[in-house]
Amino acid sequence: MYENKKILIVGGTGTIGYALTRLLLQYEPAVIRIFSRDEYKQFNMSIDFSKHSQKLRFLIGDVRDQQRLIRAMEDIDFVFHLASMKHVPFLRVQSF
Ligand SMILES: NC(=O)c1ccc[n+]([C@@H]2O[C@H](COP(=O)([O-])OP(=O)(O)OC[C@H]3O[C@@H](n4cnc5c(N)ncnc54)[C@H](OP(=O)(O)O)[C@@H]3O)[C@@H](O)[C@H]2O)c1
Repeated sequence: MYENKKILIVGGTGTIGYALTRLLLQYEPAVIRIFSRDEYKQFNMSIDFSKHSQKLRFLIGDVRDQQRLIRAMEDIDFVFHLASMKHVPFLRVQSF
């Protein structure tokens, strides 16, 4: 199903993104694009997956930036959306 397909993982540097990337690579996709905000996480992931550097592309972007997201989705066959903030206590409105 994923063989030779182009895959975008939005939020691909997170816990699930790592596991999903590892899994999808077994299916020999054409490329996996990893889209997220923090360059340091992308840098670390590029090292952790250095054996698969031909298959991975890293794109800096924020899921709230529609134009950037549309660009990241160009020619893509499958999109996995994992971008989130998952630590609920940090999501409340802060009062300073
Ligand atoms: N981990 C679990 O065991 C588990 C279990 C069940 C369900 N889930 C759900 O699965 C989803 C992913 O979980 P996770 O554990 O992989 O989360 P995570 O480790 O916190 O990863 C979140 C990913 O989203 C990116 N991200 C966050 N805000 C973004 C934004 N505005 N634009 C672009 N990228 C953004 C983060 O990178 P940057 O911060 O660099 O942008 C990171 O790559 C969540 O909805 C979570 O609730 C997780």
